[in-house]
Amino acid sequence: MSFLTRRKPLEPQAPEGVGHLKKTLGWPHLIALGVGAIIGTGIYTLTGVAAGLAGPAVILSFAAAGLVCAGAALCYAEMSSLTPQSGSAYTFTYVTLGEALAWIVGISLILEYTLVCSAVSVGWSGYASGLIRQAGWGVPEALLDKGVVDVPAIFIALAVTGMLLVGTRESARVNFVLVCIKLVALAAFVAFTLPHFDAANFQPFAPFGYGSPEIDGRKYGVMGAAAIIFFAFYGFDAISTAAEETKDPKRDLTIGIVGSMGLCTLIYMIIAACALGASPYEAFSSSPEPLAFVLKALGLPGPAAIIAGAAVLAMPTVIMVFMFGQSRVFFAMARDGLLPRRLANVNRRGVPAVVTIVTGVLAAVVAGLAPLDDIASAANAGTLAAFIATAVAVMILRRRAPDLPRPFRTPAVWIVAPLTIAGCLWFFSSLRTITMLIFLTANVLGFLAYLAYGRARSRLAG
Ligand code: ALA
Repeated sequence: MSFLTRRKPLEPQAPEGVGHLKKTLGWPHLIALGVGAIIGTGIYTLTGVAAGLAGPAVILSFAAAGLVCAGAALCYAEMSSLTPQSGSAYTFTYVTLGEALAWIVGISLILEYTLVCSAVSVGWSGYASGLIRQAGWGVPEALLDKGVVDVPAIFIALAVTGMLLVGTRESARVNFVLVCIKLVALAAFVAFTLPHFDAANFQPFAPFGYGSPEIDGRKYGVMGAAAIIFFAFYGFDAISTAAEETKDPKRDLTIGIVGSMGLCTLIYMIIAACALGASPYEAFSSSPEPLAFVLKALGLPGPAAIIAGAAVLAMPTVIMVFMFGQSRVFFAMARDGLLPRRLANVNRRGVPAVVTIVTGVLAAVVAGLAPLDDIASAANAGTLAAFIATAVAVMILRRRAPDLPRPFRTPAVWIVAPLTIAGCLWFFSSLRTITMLIFLTANVLGFLAYLAYGRARSRLAG
């Protein structure tokens, strides 16, 4: 079989001498992991940006992005329950489409996970820098969120790296507490804004139309906003990368992925409706802290401060989950021989320490130097590639191995999977040209690296 198309078997064992990850997680951990990954910079920061692009019709952008992600979540759930091993879409692709495409998806995932860590670090820094200024510590502007080097963003990326090095269980526990804080803060936002709901704020409903018209290099309209707000929805895919650490992967992963996805979609729709009902979108769309801004505009500075504080406290959970997922994709690729096997070594605590540190440092460097918009849209491109590959993988396996016992079956798979792929392609085409070019360049460079290194060293190379 050609190296381009050679495939891994569905449930291979780890080779001798390479450590297994500890099985410590159940489905409540996974839902917390999912919600921890999904709710973050997207709802806290990008809601304003997206409302500025679509007007009140941003509600439809949320619905469109949620729908595509729900389709992807169903495909992930089926594939995760069939291949309970680390690696997420990378592994799904390896067992269906073969090594070359798996490599490309692996590079896309690495791009996505690293950049999400960076983007959320920058979003966190926006809130943290505000608090630092308010505290009057005299920190030079050059070292804050809009300065030369974003030091708070670097700090949070490295701090989360340190927490992950302490070990999965401890990190999952911290994550659980922070997820609760995040949910309570959002519930408080609803409670404070609902009494001020004014339907007049929803007129005109779609000032920039329903497509993605380009104005001054930015994509507006419902689909233009959906391509950005898509960032707010993903994260459930990071759960499937924890498969090897899950006690009962077939049951727990399904509940974890579908449950966290549904819960977050519901929360987003409610939060967006409350923000739009309480304030004209033009008012909060350019704020770096739109939810707090809405509350301040209502004359509620106390609750606004609580929301801002909760964002600072809880946003790192997103970084944590993605960094966790990232190290597991590296782990899977290294174990397959496509990256140096040293990266797959786990330490005494069962943590792949080298790759966790490499990921954390890379994410910190990007967070310290690049602007949020660019990082987030490049992360979206990587995610879209992974979603498409997963939807394709589900259909291939249904054809190739129809009788395989499936603990979870994607309902109406021949409708859901193609629609998911179509939605992802539409979002991809709604991204800026420069983003597409960055994505393609990363993949071409990555593929050259594969030809030079992974092709000959693959465990399947014989
Ligand atoms: N969904 C994650 C967020 O909104 C990436 O921050």
